[in-house]
Amino acid sequence: MLNNLVEKPQDKILALMDTYKADTRQSKIDLGVGVYKNASGATPIMLAVKAAEKLLWQNQETKSYVGLAGDPAFSNCMIDLVLNGVVSQDKLAAVATPGGTGAVRQALELIKMAGSDTTIWLSNPTWPNHLSIVKYLGMSLAEYRYFNSETGGVDFNGLLDDIKKIPAGDVVLLHGCCHNPTGANLTSEQEDQLIAVLSKNGVIPFVDIAYQGFGDGLENDARFTRKIASQMPECLIAASCSKNFGIYRERTGILIAVTTNTQQRALTQGNLAFLNRQNFSFPPDHGARLVTMILTDKALHKSWIQELEETRLSMINLRQQLANELRQKIGSDRFGFLASHRGMFSKLGISSDLVEKIRTDFGVYMVGDSRINIAGLNLETVPLLANAIAQIIK
Ligand code: LMR
Repeated sequence: MLNNLVEKPQDKILALMDTYKADTRQSKIDLGVGVYKNASGATPIMLAVKAAEKLLWQNQETKSYVGLAGDPAFSNCMIDLVLNGVVSQDKLAAVATPGGTGAVRQALELIKMAGSDTTIWLSNPTWPNHLSIVKYLGMSLAEYRYFNSETGGVDFNGLLDDIKKIPAGDVVLLHGCCHNPTGANLTSEQEDQLIAVLSKNGVIPFVDIAYQGFGDGLENDARFTRKIASQMPECLIAASCSKNFGIYRERTGILIAVTTNTQQRALTQGNLAFLNRQNFSFPPDHGARLVTMILTDKALHKSWIQELEETRLSMINLRQQLANELRQKIGSDRFGFLASHRGMFSKLGISSDLVEKIRTDFGVYMVGDSRINIAGLNLETVPLLANAIAQIIK
């Protein structure tokens, strides 16, 4: 039986982690997988998470099952964090999922159950795993333009032209904030224009929000998602706690469905619980419980906000430094967009040959599409990276 298996393509981001580990050069720089690193290169456990874990260890009395949808307290506080009351509770269905990826997967399965011929429209480029999961589920897939490699910004005219062509009932996957991999984001006015087209044409938005708090702050980063949720009759939202709570391996996420009425809400909730049961039964609880404790306890919440804000500002700082260094080294503003991009990532817009060259010659590891993880940098490595980029583009 197992002989019949065919080899699967390796995820390019995860494959890069292995190649980086195997490189013995001291000077190597890891700008691959999206994990936050502080100035000393560590991915620390946030203070609020550590404190919540301690409290949990002291007070938790059972590890018995919770419920197929996870703990309702987790859903409630995550719905508050993402939507802040813009949609009434009686229209919202939600299930806890294993990470944001689990939420993406469950959302796509839900869409498939609701109509097997629905096409999923993805931004070009998008997080490679979006593409991979849609293909794996055998769903139809189409792309809309998103990025202008020349300017390093959003190709908004191209995007709007493509979005206008999407037929009613199809689903468009949008990044809530901090677009992965480009780092280029829509302005508030552009968001409004986009929503107006979706609304007019009856296209269903599916928002993946994995970096809330990493761009312009917790509230600003939720702006687009909140507008969509409050203005569109139906939408799906996959939210991740991996990055903003730094609990990557705990696999904590949520899938929220905005429905049109209470009857549809109940139907959707039942289907979501069914899907959880089929795929993994009960969702992981540890990370979700920590998040709930942090979001509902004043002191933990304050500590979390403070650390998250420090993390966010350190990334903005690194962005500015890198843009400045590059301006000095190459004598042009070609990479000025790095300072205005937001989130962990930026796409440099250099060719895959140059990505290969910078890896071979300088030990700089970035994803093949020239995505860099800004949080993989520090004050010492910024000039080294700027120098390496300046050398290879000469
Ligand atoms: C990334 O894009 O690097 C992260 O979302 C991690 C992952 O799972 O790919």
